[in-house]
Amino acid sequence: MDSRRPLIAGNWKMHKTGKQAVDSIRQLKDLTSSVTDVEIMVAPPFTALSQISAELGAGGNIALGAQNMHWESEGAFTGEISANMLKSAGCRYVILGHSERRQFFGETDQTVNKKIKAALSAGLAPVLCVGETEKQRNENKTFNILDKQIKIGLENFVLNALQSLVVAYEPVWAIGTGKTATTDQAQEVHNYLRKWFAKEYGTEFSQKLRILYGGSVKPANIKDLMAMPDIDGALVGGASLDPNSLSQLVHYKS
Ligand code: PGA
Repeated sequence: MDSRRPLIAGNWKMHKTGKQAVDSIRQLKDLTSSVTDVEIMVAPPFTALSQISAELGAGGNIALGAQNMHWESEGAFTGEISANMLKSAGCRYVILGHSERRQFFGETDQTVNKKIKAALSAGLAPVLCVGETEKQRNENKTFNILDKQIKIGLENFVLNALQSLVVAYEPVWAIGTGKTATTDQAQEVHNYLRKWFAKEYGTEFSQKLRILYGGSVKPANIKDLMAMPDIDGALVGGASLDPNSLSQLVHYKS
């Protein structure tokens, strides 16, 4: 038996104004108030963070996350947000290296590495996203790509620094496409990643590490995914926007 507490995370991407986000969070709070065995995280756009944080208050079962940040602590970086700003806005988590950041905004494994470092020093838990494209999968390069993403993304981190790390496996071909990896495909990769972490950081660490699956997760497929031994939660885009659907995901056991 492991002690990994399941984490269901909603990535709202570029959706919802402050008011819409607050409305959604109020509904979600009502719908999930009795949930204790699953951790819930929502990552709204930056503009809604403070409002949501005030709405959540302290001590609830919903944690706040951000979708991205810059690695510098402050300075002349127009349009960017620092780890400390996120922390003081009430964030506990920050999603880093999401494939949309890599695809559309030039994020590289090297910048992801710097961001993870900055997040950890500010006391934010990084959710490191990794995953292969369809072409890479078809060319049998999935594991090579993942190796590169985690190796460079986590280069120069000692074990102790990484205690709050969460990893999300999100095959790029499954994001927003309605195509989910089969439970076996996802489990194969999650198991590979856990073994990688065991080799690199030891079994104790790898057994504690939460590895989320992301890519077209919805109420209809979450139960089967969560039944896999190395899947510890989900990072959900589209199906997290509607509070009812997100609540169903959180209640995947029932
Ligand atoms: P999706 O997005 O659930 O809409 O496929 C997942 C993600 O990008 O984190």
